[in-house]
Order: sequence, then structure tokens, then C-alpha cells
Amino acid sequence: SRGGRAALPGARLRAGQRRQLHPAVPGSAGGGLGPQLYKEAPELRSALPSGPAEKEEPLRRQPGLQEVVEARRGFNLFFSSNIDEAVREADIIFISVNTPTKTFGLGKGRAADLKYIEACARRIAEVATGYKIVVEKSTVPVRAAESIQRIFNANTKSDLSFQFLSNPEFLAEVTAITDLKNPDRVLIGGEETPDGQRAIETLSSIYERWVPKSRIITTNTWSSELSKLAANAFLAQRISSINSISALCEVTGADVEEVAHAIGTDQRIGNGFLKASVGFGGSCFQKDVLNLVYLCEALNLPEVARYWQQVIEINEYQRRRFAARIISCLFNTVTDKKIALLGFAFKKDTGDTRESSSIYISKYLMDEGAQLYIYDPKVKKEQIMQDLAQSSTVTDGMERGLSLVSIASDPYEACDNAHAIVICTEWDVFKELDYEKIYKAMLKPAFIFDGRRILDSLHDRLQQLGFQVETIGKKISQRIPFTTNDISKLDLQTPPLKKMKI
Ligand SMILES: NC(=O)c1ccc[n+]([C@@H]2O[C@H](COP(=O)([O-])OP(=O)(O)OC[C@H]3O[C@@H](n4cnc5c(N)ncnc54)[C@H](O)[C@@H]3O)[C@@H](O)[C@H]2O)c1
Repeated sequence: SRGGRAALPGARLRAGQRRQLHPAVPGSAGGGLGPQLYKEAPELRSALPSGPAEKEEPLRRQPGLQEVVEARRGFNLFFSSNIDEAVREADIIFISVNTPTKTFGLGKGRAADLKYIEACARRIAEVATGYKIVVEKSTVPVRAAESIQRIFNANTKSDLSFQFLSNPEFLAEVTAITDLKNPDRVLIGGEETPDGQRAIETLSSIYERWVPKSRIITTNTWSSELSKLAANAFLAQRISSINSISALCEVTGADVEEVAHAIGTDQRIGNGFLKASVGFGGSCFQKDVLNLVYLCEALNLPEVARYWQQVIEINEYQRRRFAARIISCLFNTVTDKKIALLGFAFKKDTGDTRESSSIYISKYLMDEGAQLYIYDPKVKKEQIMQDLAQSSTVTDGMERGLSLVSIASDPYEACDNAHAIVICTEWDVFKELDYEKIYKAMLKPAFIFDGRRILDSLHDRLQQLGFQVETIGKKISQRIPFTTNDISKLDLQTPPLKKMKI
């Protein structure tokens, strides 16, 4: 026993095995879990793979993560590039690698690419000995555990035995550490056999260090895998539902914020995730819903597949609709017009741009020849250029497309001499800008398109200053007479699937 520490309750130990649980966490969904675990359970030791995952940037990206890492680094939290050694020494191995949407081959654009999971499974089967609990923490299609188990079975060795658990991660970026400290629930799925139940108890006993037992749900493996996909699909569906209502609000004079409040007070509906916007982004929602759709199709459930596919289609429609409204308001042309795009991250307080609606809005406007001046407090220039290069289909080719983009170092520079401001991310700083100064420096009529409903309290003042304010889910300014409301005439093409970042 390393340091003479006691085994955890419920741990199933074999003769000669260390009397200490010792997790390893390949991938980075565990990037938050790992450090939190070792803070709450100081007798555990762990190795997290070093390399890209340990670089400072991901640590900074999650508020609170760096502090937790620094508190435990060198005590019971170690970063190592020697994955084989970490796997050999570990009692529990969390597979937390990425599961992006496939970009080629069968299921392209929808199915989850499990090659990183498979690589981990093969490596573990190859180097591990003794008894291991292998935990699937990445989000995977239902019955992925079965495939991994088959890899283990096919590579079985007399000195290796294992139990496989599904323990999906429900944290959200930016609030990852608070979500981990105080989760709504922890879900653990495993085999319905005595060995499977013992493995569940072992993992549960770790979480019980800081999570009340009543919040730890145990299920069979398939329920656990499906619950993660279903949870993300339900969240995405709420956003698409309220966004579909926002379209109705804009043509009827209703206000989507008022509608969301009114329906959200019904306890059966609840008020979370009812914020209308330019559409959801992020690495998970689209990928997981598409994954669910693909699964339903593969299992011959076309009606169910179509139902969930519609969640994605409304999201794409919302982005197209917003871009079309910008073009329509700007007298049906944005060609060579300077447009300040504020916010490029998929949500505030992160530099993550994966599947950000800003990419799609930018692309639509670039297709129409707009000159974009983009400002985001956290996203780096190289990232923006890379995202736009990957999604660019501007007719004259990528070079012309990217020549339409400039990255501004502050919001005032972005807005200087612009025809319009387009707010794509709900950064707090955009609520506090000096709009009088901005208005004076803009071309007239000066437009603001609020894709996130962050300027609601400023509408009167902005209009007094002279702005034409356009926002999601509410009609505010009177249209200038010769603009058309008929956005259906604008045939914006959905950009091609963006290559997932790996
Ligand atoms: N990002 C989130 O907020 C979030 C939330 C819940 C669940 N998830 C799920 O967690 C998983 C990971 O998501 P992410 O956003 O952290 O992905 P990510 O792409 O940011 O990180 C994955 C990491 O795994 C590493 N990796 C890939 N193959 C590896 C291997 N064989 N050995 C060691 N490391 C390897 C990659 O280098 C990368 O650093 C996905 O399945 C995702 O759906 C993510």
C-alpha cells in the first residue's frame, strides 16, 4: 500500500493488489473530474495524461480548475505522458477522450467517431494486468460499452480481469468545477451481476466523498449511456423550442422573453434553458443529438430519428433567419458593408468556439460579401481564422472569403465606421459599452442586432441615441419603409459541416 493508506469501502481487491484506489484519466472530460476527485479524496493518487491536456490554456478555460490543480499537483495528482505506466498502476481507468461527429465514411456528419475510445480500449487491454475498473466517461452511443468489452474479451489475458462502467459527464463548460462540486446527480451504469454491482459500489464510494448518496443514480449500462444522450437532446430541444417561438414573436408582436417567463413559471415546464438566441453551439449538443438521430435510424426508428433531427434543423434555421434579417434590414445587401461582429465564442466566459453560431452567422454574411470586423474578449485571432477557413464556402474561394475578415482588438475599433453591430455572444462587457461613442462613430442609419437579448434594458436609450435596434423574438424598431420583411426570399445556404476539432 502506497503510503499505507486504507482501501476505499466497496473496493474489490484481489490477492497482491495495492490497497489503494488509483485512477488514471486519459482525455479531458476528466480534466475537471480528476483534480476535483483528488481534492476531495486526498488518499487517492492519480495520473492524468500530460501533453495538450495539461497545457495551461485548458486549465485557464475552466474557471476554478487551475486552483484545484495547483492545490493537488505533486501531492496526489500527477501529470504523466507515460500512459502505459499510469494504466498499469491504476485500479480505475476513466476514458474521457473526445468522441467527435464522423467527418467521413459511414454515418458521416452524424455518427460518433469512436476511434479514440477504441484506441484507449486496445491500449488498456494490451498493457493492463490484474483487476481494473474501466469507466466510460466520454459521451458515447448506446451500447458502445459492448464494443469496448468485445475488444477486451478478444484480447483477454489470464492475468487481466475487468469490469466496465458507464459514468457519463454532465458538467457544462465554464461552470465545470461548480458542477462537479455540486452535481444534480452522478450516474453510474454497470452490469447487473454481483461483480458489476461491486464495481458500481466502488466508483460510487469515491463520489460519496463529496456527493450525497441520494444524488448518485445507479442503472444498467445501457440506461446510463442513453441518459447522457437523452439529457443533451432534451436541453437542445428546449432551446430549439423557444427559438421556434421567437420566430413567431417577431411576426406577431409578442415578446419571447415575456412568453418564456410566462411558460417557465409553470412548474411542470420550469424556467431553465428558455433563453431565445442565435442558436446553440458548443462541442456537445449538436454532436450528441446527431448521434441520437443516427442511432435511431440504425435501429430502424425513422420517426424518432426525424423528431430529434428537427431540433438541429430549427437551430440551423434560427442562425439562417438571424443572418437573413441582418441582410434584409441593411436594405437587402451587405456587400462591402462593414459589420462589427461582437462575440465569437459559443457562450460567454470561454474561448471555446466549437460549433459556435458566430461561425455560421459570419459565413452567411461573408457569402454576401460583407466586411466583418470581429471582436471577442477571449478567442484568439488564429482560432477565428481557422474556424472561418474550415467553414468557408464563399463563392470566390477561401482566400477572398478570409480577406473579408478583420479581427479587432477592442469593440470600439470593430464598430468604428460600421453599418451594423451584430452581437453573437452574451459577454457581459457588451452591456457596458459606451453606445453613444459607438453611435457617433458608425455610419447612419446605425443598426444593432442583438442575437442574445443582452441589451433589453438599453433599448429605449439606444433608440433615443438613434440606433435601429433589432433583437431576437421581439419587434422593436419600425422598419425603414423600403426594406422587405420577406426573409424567405433570401436563399442562404447552410455551411458545410465544420471539421470537428480533435
Ligand atoms: N466539453 C464538455 O463540456 C463536455 C461535457 C460533458 C461530456 N463531454 C464529453 O467528454 C468527452 C471529451 O470531451 P472534451 O470536450 O473534453 O474533448 P476535447 O477534445 O477537449 O478533449 C479530449 C482529449 O482527449 C485526448 N485524447 C484523445 N485520444 C487519446 C488517447 N488515446 N489517449 C489519451 N488522450 C487522448 C485529446 O488529445 C484531447 O486532449 C466527449 O465525449 C464529450 O462529449 C464533454
